[in-house]
Amino acid sequence: MDDHHERTRSAWDQASQKHVREHGQLLEEARRAQLTGVERDVLARVLCGGPEVLHPQSGHGVDDAALVRGGARSVLGLDYSPTAVGAAQRRADALGLPCRYEVAELPPLPVPTASFDLVYTGKGALGWVRDLPAWAREVRRVLRPGGHLFVLEAHPLVPLWTWEPDEVRVRPDRSCFAGEHVNDSFPALGAVEAQHTLAEVVVQVVGIGLELVHLAEHPEPFWRPGGLEAAAWDGRLPNTFTLLARVPTPGAEP
Ligand SMILES: C[S@@+](CC[C@H](N)C(=O)[O-])C[C@H]1O[C@@H](n2cnc3c(N)ncnc32)[C@H](O)[C@@H]1O
Repeated sequence: MDDHHERTRSAWDQASQKHVREHGQLLEEARRAQLTGVERDVLARVLCGGPEVLHPQSGHGVDDAALVRGGARSVLGLDYSPTAVGAAQRRADALGLPCRYEVAELPPLPVPTASFDLVYTGKGALGWVRDLPAWAREVRRVLRPGGHLFVLEAHPLVPLWTWEPDEVRVRPDRSCFAGEHVNDSFPALGAVEAQHTLAEVVVQVVGIGLELVHLAEHPEPFWRPGGLEAAAWDGRLPNTFTLLARVPTPGAEP
């Protein structure tokens, strides 16, 4: 295992201490958690069926409370930070949610083939996936026929925007096509983050045999760090994208 990998992993475990320190606050957030508007719109039909959900890189897991409230039958969250997993499980247990958390380094996804109806991921997840083809193959493997992959993720252009309040600038030290950059906001300690273009994500998803159901780019960021109001978030630039793809069901209408 290389040095940079270990540094990133330990940076995440340290950053996840926040979930432990802020247990009370996150508990209240989870008690009231709702999916965002776009998540509700895109996932409405999927959640109607009471899916069993797999949430790779589940982090603090607050979204899982929202998924259950939205109709999910159960959620299994996987994350390589034991601290994040412990904090998420403690919160789910306190709220009596059908959510389970396990420590796992991805890919692979350590669950049986064709065992989930929905893989829900994003909000800062794909940037930590270096082997996108392996990730896509695993997502396809664990989904049942008719199952869905949903991603709400930072737009690939986000690493290029500065966060100044009055004017957006394109960072001179970043490129959309660099393949990776050193994260200088969160988590700290210079973790190296992978960059995948939107085309690369879509090509992987379609390439493993999923049907694209929905793809859209949005101006809203999924995260606004501590009180910042950046000009990059004023509605003119893409800050997130959503994707829904489905495992074809033999004989079903497309
Ligand atoms: C931005 S955070 C969480 C995203 C989550 N959707 C949320 O909103 O809390 C990214 C998470 O991915 C986890 N992670 C990063 N690389 C991973 C890997 N290779 N395997 C498993 N977990 C990983 C980190 O521990 C962290 O909790």
